Amino acid sequence: MRKLKLGVLVSGGGSNLQSIIDSCETGYLPAETAVVISNKPEVYALERANKHDIPAYTLLSKDYKTSREYEDELIFILEKHDVDLVVLAGFIKVLSPYFVSKFTRKIVNIHPSLIPSFCGRGFYGKKVHEAVIEYGVKITGVTVHFVDEGTDTGPIILQRAVPVKDDDTPDTLAARVLIEEHKIYPEALKLYAEDRLIIKGRRVLIK
Ligand code: GAR
Repeated sequence: MRKLKLGVLVSGGGSNLQSIIDSCETGYLPAETAVVISNKPEVYALERANKHDIPAYTLLSKDYKTSREYEDELIFILEKHDVDLVVLAGFIKVLSPYFVSKFTRKIVNIHPSLIPSFCGRGFYGKKVHEAVIEYGVKITGVTVHFVDEGTDTGPIILQRAVPVKDDDTPDTLAARVLIEEHKIYPEALKLYAEDRLIIKGRRVLIK
């Protein structure tokens, strides 16, 4: 059987990318990482791709006249590599409805909080954990969801809770949340690869 081909979009260190690559390599996740694309230059995620002989591209917004041209190039590369599922792994650029319409229900994202808390425009990476601590919530977590036209608004596939400790800093909290991210993303992708997700309106049921 043909393996599901993943196109992973990154902007930074790529620890989630690594967990996906490793899960493919151990056979836990019946998929292959077909291509990695970064919107930031020289990030460690690109090196991770190189180490595993995965084609890697850097696409910088400043090199394109319009966001449509940028996204057309993104689509061109994803299609060239026969990508079945677009996986956002710390990708901090917001994709337009135009891009989303090209991959309906074929884009997933991981967000480091329990959506719908601490999400949407401006909430990414460390900013999420700063806001969590500042607000004083006792529980945060991780969400994997399908991407729709909004920011962090698509149907939720899996969530996991992480307690906030009294002495947490944004960095210590981010580190504990990342441990859960590295488990939950391969789990969610496995469910997708095995065709076990049924989308009913906003709800995602697991077969
Ligand atoms: C992860 O915590 C991911 O959930 C977050 O960026 C980090 C990337 O780390 N994504 C967002 O905040 C998206 N809104 P990584 O590059 O080590 O995978």
